[in-house]
Amino acid sequence: MAGKGFRNVWITGGSSGIGRALALYYGRVGARVAVSGRNEERLEEAARACGGAAYPLDVTDAAAVERTVAAIWEREGPLDLAILNAGAAFKRAGRDDTAANLKKHLEVNLLGVAYALDALRPRMREAGGGTIALVGSLAGYAGLPRTSGYGTSKAALGYYAEALWAELEREKIRLKLISPGFVKTPIVAANEFPMPFMLEPDEAARIIARGLERPAFEIAFPRRLAWPLRLLRALPASWRVRLFAAAERRAARGRSR
Ligand SMILES: NC(=O)c1ccc[n+]([C@@H]2O[C@H](COP(=O)([O-])OP(=O)(O)OC[C@H]3O[C@@H](n4cnc5c(N)ncnc54)[C@H](OP(=O)(O)O)[C@@H]3O)[C@@H](O)[C@H]2O)c1
Repeated sequence: MAGKGFRNVWITGGSSGIGRALALYYGRVGARVAVSGRNEERLEEAARACGGAAYPLDVTDAAAVERTVAAIWEREGPLDLAILNAGAAFKRAGRDDTAANLKKHLEVNLLGVAYALDALRPRMREAGGGTIALVGSLAGYAGLPRTSGYGTSKAALGYYAEALWAELEREKIRLKLISPGFVKTPIVAANEFPMPFMLEPDEAARIIARGLERPAFEIAFPRRLAWPLRLLRALPASWRVRLFAAAERRAARGRSR
């Protein structure tokens, strides 16, 4: 049965969407599951549904992250898998709001992950190793229009994971990057652009769990979206920006009709 390798799992953003589906998955295969998120009601419900424990947490608070990881280690025992999945997308307030909007994204999607990684690393090292999976996005593959804050934070997360892989490997910590395409969750509900090949959270959780059992660094899915984006990423950036600008002009003409 997939998932048999992980016995003690912590999932941030476990109260909703992909994180909740992962919590249920690992609960079903018999792992001990701890979930974190800010909304205590939703978190308690998810913990009950997966037979696990709720650890309320705002990942942007570094001291709280350290305290929570210490509490999990103490009460649940050494983790062998942490899925740093908590993430958010914020609408821009206006044209001239790129910095404030980027800051909000970096605080949750990048620093929130880094705080958790720094809290987990010495403990996992001492316990002899473990797996830390970071949830990025296919949106980080190229500078897609209309997602400057979110996309930049996810591109940076991919860089961060790649840059740290070798040092963590020497400590027997396997770092994995999860790069989902579109998954039907509240985070994408307000998107006003096409979202091809959308998956249900359960399907995404199964793909992620399978990928976590395998040695590859990155779990990018669905393949039918990941491959075209990889090809797009391989183009010269000067071509990409022109392609995106033309697509945006076409979309604007479509909207005004
Ligand atoms: N859905 C997609 O199409 C898609 C595609 C690519 C990547 N992703 C990534 O997948 C991850 C999960 O997203 P999702 O689609 O499952 O969205 P979701 O249903 O909105 O779940 C986001 C989770 O993150 C938690 N969260 C947000 N801000 C937090 C904070 N400051 N501290 C602690 N927890 C926080 C939320 O709980 P609280 O609000 O209670 O804190 C919630 O449990 C995110 O990293 C997202 O960027 C999603």
